Amino acid sequence: MKNLTALSVKTVQGELYVLDQTLLPQQQVWHSCKTVPQMVSMIKALQLRGAPAIGIGACLLLAYRASVGDSREQLLLDAEVLRAARPTAVNLMNNLDSMLAALKQTDFTLAAIACAEQLFAEDVELCQRMAEHGAALVQEGEQLLTHCNTGGLATAGVGTALGVISLAHQQGKNIRLWVDETRPLLQGGRLTAWECQQLGIPYQLICDNMAAMLMARGQVDRIFVGSDRIAANGDFANKVGTYSLAVLAHYHKVPFYVVAPHTTVDLACADGSAIPIEQRHADEVRGVSGAFGKTVWAPEQAPVFNPAFDVTPAALVTGWVFDTGVYSHADIAAGVLQQFA
Ligand code: MRU
Repeated sequence: MKNLTALSVKTVQGELYVLDQTLLPQQQVWHSCKTVPQMVSMIKALQLRGAPAIGIGACLLLAYRASVGDSREQLLLDAEVLRAARPTAVNLMNNLDSMLAALKQTDFTLAAIACAEQLFAEDVELCQRMAEHGAALVQEGEQLLTHCNTGGLATAGVGTALGVISLAHQQGKNIRLWVDETRPLLQGGRLTAWECQQLGIPYQLICDNMAAMLMARGQVDRIFVGSDRIAANGDFANKVGTYSLAVLAHYHKVPFYVVAPHTTVDLACADGSAIPIEQRHADEVRGVSGAFGKTVWAPEQAPVFNPAFDVTPAALVTGWVFDTGVYSHADIAAGVLQQFA
């Protein structure tokens, strides 16, 4: 396998390493990942996270397993185990489907390695195209807002929504960014803030419940978020809290864009109600944990509701930024997403 380098995964002399995102920004620790149970556990724990990144990580691991001589039968079983690691991001399922096709070829080892490398390279390319289409929407001096982490840590490339924001910054548009901290797991506060510092993007961190006040004051000109799965009618799932931002944006007439590669579209879901939503452990809401240790503030057995994602209805979206262009409601109604079948 080639040496590949992204912010959250890399391959070195055929072996796979994953940057532990639960320890960021305090510690930058790379774990070697050699087995399927290790990869599943890293994905479930969000050590590796972000829709495109988990799909690519799972496929690189399968390619590694193929390179060390696992049988086709074993790899096919492993693909199904990896598929079940997280339920909402369809990129994981789509990437594994590509690997299954590769594993059917006569020289399945070479095919699996080539397929994983291709998925990695494709994601880099898709990110760049989304960034170009999305950055063209941004005007000089705008104040932008984003939710969760959608940057290099979540993809093989520059990211989805954060890739757009980053390119607008590089283009000298003098933007400023509000970063939602993104409770409960703080992907904004820990990861997006960290990436913004690396990229030199002027940002301010806010608690999620401060976005309303900023919009009411006219201090948010445009919102960009990512997505884990987009239904055929344009409804989409993203990190919990995205829906409330979209409602707020609609009320305050702030343009609200979802940014995703076309591989995030799932035409098998007619609308957002068909998107499976991952429920996560109660402890994530009862307190926080990370490189700084564990703090619990709720009663030990406090009952908790903890969906990892929510669904934003298409009606609240201003535009869909894909690698193929920016689409409007009219485009979606005309069936533009069918090209991604
Ligand atoms: O639970 P996470 O951290 O994997 O959730 C990530 C998101 O919700 C992102 O916005 C989404 O994956 C799109 S990022 C390219």
